[in-house]
Amino acid sequence: MDLGDSIRKSITDLLGSGQGNVATPCYIYSVEQVIENFKDLKEVLGTPLVVSLKANHCPELLSRTAFNFDDGCEVASLGELRLRAGTRRKTYINTPAYTRKMVEVASRYNATFIIDYVAQLDIIAEVKQQGVFNNSVLLRLNFDAARNENAPPKDHFGMDTKSLFEAAAKARDMKVKVAGLHIFCGSNGFVDKSMACVEAVDKLFDAVGKTLGYPLEVINLGGGIPSDWREKNIDFASYRASLQPLQRKAEVIHEAGRAIFGSAGYFATEVVSVKSIGAKRFVICDGGMTQNFLLAKTEHVIRKYDRPTLISERLTDETRDYTFVGASCNRDDIIGEYRDCPHEILPGDQIVFGQCGAYNAVYTVNKFLALKHYGEYII
Ligand SMILES: Cc1ncc(COP(=O)(O)O)c(C=O)c1O
Repeated sequence: MDLGDSIRKSITDLLGSGQGNVATPCYIYSVEQVIENFKDLKEVLGTPLVVSLKANHCPELLSRTAFNFDDGCEVASLGELRLRAGTRRKTYINTPAYTRKMVEVASRYNATFIIDYVAQLDIIAEVKQQGVFNNSVLLRLNFDAARNENAPPKDHFGMDTKSLFEAAAKARDMKVKVAGLHIFCGSNGFVDKSMACVEAVDKLFDAVGKTLGYPLEVINLGGGIPSDWREKNIDFASYRASLQPLQRKAEVIHEAGRAIFGSAGYFATEVVSVKSIGAKRFVICDGGMTQNFLLAKTEHVIRKYDRPTLISERLTDETRDYTFVGASCNRDDIIGEYRDCPHEILPGDQIVFGQCGAYNAVYTVNKFLALKHYGEYII
């Protein structure tokens, strides 16, 4: 991946300013890019946009960007709630693992609870008995079950239709306000499945309102928008048009993490050494899967490694293929590949991977071998 000129300069200046302050391996986040992604995505979706904090936990990045997040945040734990402590903006709490403590704490925020299955309402009932629960809930539909009750679901989130109506009746009897419905088609699912989300919710909307005895006000269609959504030629105009019938009934909102943070983050690591086994050249880096598990692509059936950008470029006469590996003893610790590289790579060089702003830092195996923890810097 090529960095744009201005990002390249900012990253080079930051890494070069080192003097012990900026150490690799590290993540570098662009505040401007996060804000631009949020604003542009909100505009093309044409609805309020809730920011999913699970994608990026960097407190400094959040503190510098969150004032833009007008429509609130989605959190999945008490820890994530703490990252937004003090906010007056809307908070959506969404986890299949509510505890009483979590419900008690979150109920003091301007929070809406996503109900993943009927028994979660029992925890809310306990907290409500103490008189501190005045929050509303959204009932979460399982994406696959909402479309075909008989097919096995591909994930364990949300409810089938029968449970959904059971939850609606239970909330009604408990006098807990059901503000609306929630559905999430899964990460990166937006391109193929967003229309199916709209249809699934539309089918059930009126009937759930009837069970409750009052109309629903909110429909949260999740997101699943890919990090490189600008390059995917998504027909947002048709999508916006498909939302209109639902928007006449209720406020439609989306929530996204990857599409907001992904392209705003970079992972920088330093070359420790370059070695060859036979004809194959390996670049040993001070950072790898221990700090950036997702770069190793272990969860992909076909592993297509990312190509890093070299901060120092030294042209050579012959091109070479390089495989970039991390500092662990795991054979899967392969983080990048550069085929036909026209540059020589030497120990001490810094290399940078793009598209590392969402999940890369938080979804990683950071205790492995007690290797260095990553730093986080803002540009
Ligand atoms: C309920 C829910 N909403 C939103 C998201 C954010 O998804 P993405 O980062 O793909 O936009 C997730 C991710 O797991 C999720 O589980």
